Amino acid sequence: MEALLDAQHPEGADPAPDSEDAKSHRTLPRSAAFRRFIAQGWGPRPAEDTAAAPSAPFAARRREVLSSLFPGEVLVVPAGPLVRRSNDCDYRYRPHSAFAHLTGLGTDREADAVLVLHPRGEGHEAVLYLRPQGSRDSEEFYANARYGELWVGPRPSLAAQEAVTGLTCRDVAVLAEELGASVADGDTRGLRVVDDADPAVTALVTPLRTGEAEQVRAADDELVTALSELRLVKDEWEVGQLREAVAATVRGFEEVVRALPRAVGHPRGERVVEAAFDGTARVEGNGVGYETISAAGDHACTLHWIRNDGPVRSGDLLLLDAGVEADSLYTADVTRTLPVDGRFTDAQRRVYQAVLDAADAAFAVARPGVRFREVHEAAMRVIADRLSAWGVLPVDAATSLEPEGQYHRRWMAHGTSHHLGLDVHDCAQARREMYLDAELRPGMVFTIEPGLYVKAEDELAPAELRGIGVRIEDDVLVTEDGVENLSAALPRTPDEVEAWMASLRG
Ligand code: GLY
Ligand code: MN
Ligand code: MN
Repeated sequence: MEALLDAQHPEGADPAPDSEDAKSHRTLPRSAAFRRFIAQGWGPRPAEDTAAAPSAPFAARRREVLSSLFPGEVLVVPAGPLVRRSNDCDYRYRPHSAFAHLTGLGTDREADAVLVLHPRGEGHEAVLYLRPQGSRDSEEFYANARYGELWVGPRPSLAAQEAVTGLTCRDVAVLAEELGASVADGDTRGLRVVDDADPAVTALVTPLRTGEAEQVRAADDELVTALSELRLVKDEWEVGQLREAVAATVRGFEEVVRALPRAVGHPRGERVVEAAFDGTARVEGNGVGYETISAAGDHACTLHWIRNDGPVRSGDLLLLDAGVEADSLYTADVTRTLPVDGRFTDAQRRVYQAVLDAADAAFAVARPGVRFREVHEAAMRVIADRLSAWGVLPVDAATSLEPEGQYHRRWMAHGTSHHLGLDVHDCAQARREMYLDAELRPGMVFTIEPGLYVKAEDELAPAELRGIGVRIEDDVLVTEDGVENLSAALPRTPDEVEAWMASLRG
């Protein structure tokens, strides 16, 4: 639908002279009589949700930590604008993850909003600037397909947002003025912005800044790094959200197993699988946390196969890498590789077992105090060993594992682990010493996801293994003395996978 299309003005009828948009086919009633008419006769809106969000106290604590890192500086964290999908249609809105983390707001809250930490004494005052609820006597109400209540529903009032978030909320119209006042305050030491979140906000703050472009960029990069590192250890509420996301993901995988008979024989069976998972994700959460990888047969060897337009053939494996994003925007990231017929062949089992052994080796070393990269190294020792036993490496396993070797990576080109949270690849701007080289700490959540991928045209591999791709991916919480597999409800061993599939198929 477009804003006030001809559908509301029967074809052939002459539009009123004042109702035609000269530059397009659209008609927009502009008569004073129409404006008066549509603005009246509306009763009160339904009561708004004003219950404090369970995330609010946790978000407040995160803001306190951020405040302590940048004393005396104005910190600007935009939610970001709506993003055009095509022509006049937008993607479903998703706020910038740093904004979601610091406000506790999820789902589609809230396009164009901006969180600002204004320096006040030793700390900061956090203010959330928002487009306030539109009034029903405005043109926006009925004629604005991006923001109008008649088109996209009501926005929360500032009072309701204050009650939900515990933040002071103001009209975004005063943002420029209040930022200017904050920067002009003699005690203020600078301003930083999350500069990739909203180009309009970045442009708005640019004239308020001093220093060379390079210094300004470096200051913003430091803020982005700090925000990324602030998310490395999850709080109790975040872990709860990740548990919910994983539980919904498990249900999505179950739906896929039930849909497999329908997928087999369909020319685009991979889409049948995708639809089964994504449907569950949308019903149970906010949607998928990333595009679902539904890869049957040789497609499993394409690491991010998201075209998903191939058939699902009897006798093949299906690699499904999929995660439900909860309404809070925390996402799971899980992979299982399933025999389409419910039974692995010997060759498939061989590859599967190698990957499972690599995953188990990674699980065995993961605990507080171990460096993040050691988890990957443990998995790689198994992968190199197994490939060596299959006779495909040009050197022995130990030589392959040397930094200047790495031949085994031909069959597993991705990493074994990444942090997981609001972003599927969470904390991506953290410094190396805080991520790859850092010790694991309780509360960290990351994936363990080794794989082996033998492309159908791989002439170095044994013929019986060609066209087989396997990845097993679990989501892991670091505890006080080890790790907890958050996705343990999905079977991992070949026998358990077969039994689970049989039980779901009845
Ligand atoms: N689903 C993307 C990944 O596993 O990292
Ligand atoms: Mn992953
Ligand atoms: Mn994944």
